[in-house]
Amino acid sequence: MLKGRHLIDPEDFSLEELDSLFALADSIIKDEDSFRNLCNGKILATLFYEPSTRTRFSFEAAMLRLGGQVVGFSEPGSSSVMKGESIPDTIRTVGSYVDIIAMRHPKEGAPKYASYYSPVPIINAGDGGHQHPTQTLTDLLTIKEVKGNFSNLTIGLCGDLKFGRTVHSLIKAMSRYENIKFVLISPNELRIPKYIKTEILDGKAIDYAEVERLEEVIDSLDILYMTRVQKERFFNEADYIRLKDSYILDREKLKLAKKDLSILHPLPRVNEISYEVDEDPRACYFDQLKYGMYIRMALISKLLGVM
Ligand code: NCD
Repeated sequence: MLKGRHLIDPEDFSLEELDSLFALADSIIKDEDSFRNLCNGKILATLFYEPSTRTRFSFEAAMLRLGGQVVGFSEPGSSSVMKGESIPDTIRTVGSYVDIIAMRHPKEGAPKYASYYSPVPIINAGDGGHQHPTQTLTDLLTIKEVKGNFSNLTIGLCGDLKFGRTVHSLIKAMSRYENIKFVLISPNELRIPKYIKTEILDGKAIDYAEVERLEEVIDSLDILYMTRVQKERFFNEADYIRLKDSYILDREKLKLAKKDLSILHPLPRVNEISYEVDEDPRACYFDQLKYGMYIRMALISKLLGVM
């Protein structure tokens, strides 16, 4: 039962619970009309303390498409946060008005902290450089739709693996499936955090390799997950400028890849995938962003207990 639960970490739900979400998302994709009134009378709050396009819009569109209503802020400056209100007080307040809350915050752990005080489900919509579980649900639904299953895949993760929260969450989630191999492609300075290596990769004895050059490994990949260098998490602008164009996926590099490679990207892209790649049948990132709305429709329905 997912009713009344929070979603803070990609491992909060069992594999069976995830399957039930994917099945519901699939039914919604096939016949959206029959889900139009599911959330009548329910309210979602989106509390976004950090910028967002896809995550916030897809949450809000998801709730509206289910017949529910949405309140919230995309600029904490327009709320009492500016007056110095604490997370517990903001959450107790908003939780008295709405049925479910999606929260994005620059501080790692903020949504978890909020969940201790919330009378309604809290969904982590991204906490600093830590985790982004609903992007992972999006990524998993995309993988399921394009590959058919979650096992026996070699997944390349390329770009900013240090600060990229979507990467951390995806590794956590995919490491629960059979025979997964990760190829971690990043500049030396932007390698995956140690805790991901010790707790997850080494902890679960998962096969992985760390490399710096995409060209060296692209032919071995079933999925290539590109990410942007996370400018807002750098302490030093000069380092960002030096590293920002470390990888640019273009038609030339793709000549080396498998015919059935799937290219994913959580978006926004900055420069790491050339626009010419958009025409390649292996580019899945525009489908991926649509799946993001459908999986959030499924998630909201399950947490509210209306499905
Ligand atoms: C990601 C994020 O916010 O972490 N975007 C998203 O939610 N789709 C990726 C990013 O900002 O690079």
